[in-house]
Amino acid sequence: MKEYNGQVKLNLTVNGEVRTVWVSPADTLLSTVRTGLGLTGAKAGCENGDCGACTVHVDGTPVKSCYTLTVDVDGAAITTIEGLQNSPVQAGFRAEYGFQCGFCTSGFIMNGDALLTARPDADPATRIEWLQSNICRCTGYEGIERAMDYAQRAANGTDAGEE
Ligand code: FES
Ligand code: FES
Repeated sequence: MKEYNGQVKLNLTVNGEVRTVWVSPADTLLSTVRTGLGLTGAKAGCENGDCGACTVHVDGTPVKSCYTLTVDVDGAAITTIEGLQNSPVQAGFRAEYGFQCGFCTSGFIMNGDALLTARPDADPATRIEWLQSNICRCTGYEGIERAMDYAQRAANGTDAGEE
């Protein structure tokens, strides 16, 4: 049984490192990674489950961390954008200018990376549908679609990066 004095002690594996955190029952995973662990790549956008700016991976699955209680992911492996360096999706966003202000970008990259892991052969329509859970207020989405196309070609060892 967990000790309880208003907070509970949990163990998470965050970006490959075991971290101990003390959280209140109502603490979201977003507040834990940003405030508790100092990982500010996941953004607080709507904090209502709508925009995807807060997306992280929990045991490999993309989740909206603003809508996830930290107590519900005790023992899980959490990956944030800080732990996803040099991924094909990140390279695609750089190469194809898939961002402007960048506020939404970490969420798109986390969700896009999960898609290419789960569905390396996803067609453009599937990519667009998958990323509908992320909102960008700046780009008009064309750069994001190009970024995902670049990333998919890079991940599959085809021609991305050779133009
Ligand atoms: S901040 Fe989590 S979905 Fe918008
Ligand atoms: S680049 Fe500004 S919200 Fe997406």
